[in-house]
Amino acid sequence: MKTINVLMLSALFALSGCGDSDDVASGLDAADSMAPAAISGADLFATHCARCHNPGADGVHPGTQQLALTRGEEQAVILQRDDLQPDYVKQVVRHGIGAMATFRPTEISDPELDALARYVTDGGR
Ligand code: HEC
Repeated sequence: MKTINVLMLSALFALSGCGDSDDVASGLDAADSMAPAAISGADLFATHCARCHNPGADGVHPGTQQLALTRGEEQAVILQRDDLQPDYVKQVVRHGIGAMATFRPTEISDPELDALARYVTDGGR
């Protein structure tokens, strides 16, 4: 009787083991299908721009700090501006302005730059 129970238990473990590996496999499938998807404007901003352009002109965000000086406090946070046009943002990102470095297409592709410029000029939406 004991032997049968052990056999049944190991059969159950084997089954649940199969379930687990199925879960792992479907997780990998999901990751694969996400890979080619475009990166959102929000993610691009977080990766490339936020460290200089987040709010806080307190020496932590050089972009915000510099714009507070050159454009005034009201214009310092680029996500809060309503005067920036997508073409201007793209121009600045590709060719730089003042102390701001440029970004090559290998860093931010043209379609990514479109999404990023839309995100910035839509006030971070
Ligand atoms: C290393 C810091 C740094 C990074 C990273 C950075 N910027 Fe800047 N950015 C600046 C500085 C500094 C200025 C102000 C230049 C000046 O006026 O002298 C600026 C200015 C700008 C302006 C001009 C605003 C105006 O009023 O003319 C835009 C638009 C801009 N940045 C967008 C971006 C975007 C989009 C990204 C991300 C791809 C980005 N920046 C990444 C530092 C940075």
